Amino acid sequence: MIIAHTLAELAAIDRGTRRAVVMTMGALHEGHLALVRRAREVADQVIVTVYVNPLQFDERADYDRYPRTLEADCALLEPLGVEAVFAPADHTMYPAGEPTVSVSAGVIGRVLEGAARPGHFDGVVTVVAKLLHLTQPDVAVFGAKDAQQVIAVRALVRDLNFPVEIATAATVRDDDGLARSSRNVFLSDAERTQALALSRALAASQSAAHRGAALDDAVFAGRAILDAAEGVVLDYYSALDPADATEVQGDYRGDVVIAVAARVGRTRLIDNVTTRIGPPDAAEGELP
Ligand code: PAJ
Repeated sequence: MIIAHTLAELAAIDRGTRRAVVMTMGALHEGHLALVRRAREVADQVIVTVYVNPLQFDERADYDRYPRTLEADCALLEPLGVEAVFAPADHTMYPAGEPTVSVSAGVIGRVLEGAARPGHFDGVVTVVAKLLHLTQPDVAVFGAKDAQQVIAVRALVRDLNFPVEIATAATVRDDDGLARSSRNVFLSDAERTQALALSRALAASQSAAHRGAALDDAVFAGRAILDAAEGVVLDYYSALDPADATEVQGDYRGDVVIAVAARVGRTRLIDNVTTRIGPPDAAEGELP
């Protein structure tokens, strides 16, 4: 497995027939590895990028304490048949510091996660644009765990005509339902138990939707669980249109992403589930 740190080392990697890229910030876990396996299925060459992108952190402390574990990450990737890891230094990605020209996620960057973390999605689409230019994949794989990020990246690729296909992989969870996240390591045992309220709430909304509930009732079923949950400070619990991340309410029918963000202790967690309001859809994923 090639480990490239510089642009020259990256450029020297021979192209496969079909190249897939999985972008990560490292501290890899099963969620990331599922994307790599998905990438393997759709391409003959897989490159994983590992870069903690300073532009997308709204709090310096969050950036500073983000886990950096490149050696362990590479040890997880090698057995999966990854051809190369691109792990650039900050001065490689941003030689002059914060870039003068950057990409805006527009309105997608200002709602929900974007409202809570101003500038976050602008930082994400800027680094994704750079990494797409640098790695030149045929397909890039992103996790459904970060639903708004997928919507922003699809908009980037569509609006700025990037010649790349965007694929997604389902959210990987622990057996008890907690979505895998690099931030879970910050949870104490007690907080980890409290954090289960997020996936429980989403499961309640999903099962209400399956029983034919209207959108507002399905959302209420989940929000009630979070309102009653100890140690969980809810930021939002909202239904959004999977096409553009706008919030939907009232008599809306069709596919929705129900998205949640909450703080448990000092750790901010997000999760979501896609479900259908109205006629049942056999294709959707079930929460445990
Ligand atoms: P990071 O949080 O490291 O996540 C990298 C990719 O792994 C994202 O596509 C994310 O959705 C996916 N992922 C994380 N946890 C997952 C889980 N439990 N199940 C499925 N997929 C999961 O997202 C980022 O990094 C950054 O914003 C990045 C796109 C790399 C740009 O800096």
